[in-house]
Amino acid sequence: MQNFSIGVIAGDGIGPEVINEGVKLLNEIQESNSDIVFDMEFYDWGCEYYLEHGVMMPDDGIETLKKHDAILFGAVGAKEVPDHISVWELILPIRRSFEQYVNLRPIKLLKGVKSPLAGRSPQDIDFVVVRENTEGEYSNSGGLLHSGTPYELAIQNSVFTRYGTERILKYAFNLANESEGKKRLTVATKSNAINFAMPFWDEVAKEISIDFSDVETDYYHIDALAAYFVMKPDYFDVVVGSNLFGDILTDLGAAIVGGLGLAPSANINPERKYPSMFEPIHGSAPDIAGKGIANPIATLWSVGMMLEFLDIPYMKENIVDAIESVIEEGKVLTPDLGGESSTSELGDRIISKFKEIIKLN
Ligand code: IPM
Ligand code: MG
Repeated sequence: MQNFSIGVIAGDGIGPEVINEGVKLLNEIQESNSDIVFDMEFYDWGCEYYLEHGVMMPDDGIETLKKHDAILFGAVGAKEVPDHISVWELILPIRRSFEQYVNLRPIKLLKGVKSPLAGRSPQDIDFVVVRENTEGEYSNSGGLLHSGTPYELAIQNSVFTRYGTERILKYAFNLANESEGKKRLTVATKSNAINFAMPFWDEVAKEISIDFSDVETDYYHIDALAAYFVMKPDYFDVVVGSNLFGDILTDLGAAIVGGLGLAPSANINPERKYPSMFEPIHGSAPDIAGKGIANPIATLWSVGMMLEFLDIPYMKENIVDAIESVIEEGKVLTPDLGGESSTSELGDRIISKFKEIIKLN
């Protein structure tokens, strides 16, 4: 019997709607596998919680989450709460306290999805972005001075430690090395203009690259890299970037594979000292929240990534196969994919397809 403890934070906006589908999938998996149990604990943390309690999560929130094997997270952000509060008091503390320094974001064009890039098919776009997730531009270092005066100023420091830089780059090199494809690592940089942190970042990458002679390594300035995501997405295998670069690149990446509703992510603590967290990258989408039309695919795929991280074999592959086959079938799709179905109709269709697939295997 395998027992997994999962903390579920649905959060704000469309978070609860999509997480509901993820939970249905987990329930289905444990019903059809008598040796798997998901012990799910639900936390009502987020902006509504903030409006009631004045905090996004309880003071001992991080301590409470520690016991879980993994965390499934929906989204954070609502117009009633300033973003710097909702983000800095919930998602970022979790990523940092649990040293989830790898944010893994697959950029894969699924079968049946039309890329906005003309003429691109699934074999052209299939790579992964490794985003540094604990420091860099998101380091919470800086301050305001002389606020409200004509000479007010704001300082926001980017922090790149050797420890933090080495660990993310090593992870990316290892991933490229294990790749069955091109074994190519593209390092996102901007060493021509960001003249301390980025030459340092490149230097550390060069040092590590010595141990990875099978990996073809290249360095692209972030501006050119953004253009190449559009012009030659087939070139990439593994791309590694700092926190902000990775953030921007992965929204762009999601766009070229059909939109944010399809983009999953994993915030990983590779040493498994702390729980890792799995979340769709789309955010709370207040414009469509409560309408029941959010696309649950990013969440279901994130659940797949979670099960892979928990070493439950084949589940992720089967989930992605089910997603692809429902998209290709084209009958039950949410509006972002050109359909008229609801979040739960699409979730149900994918889950029943998933059941068929595991029966066949
Ligand atoms: C993401 C999001 C977050 C980030 C926000 C909500 C702080 O954009 O996960 O990509 O910037 O990391
Ligand atoms: Mg983002």
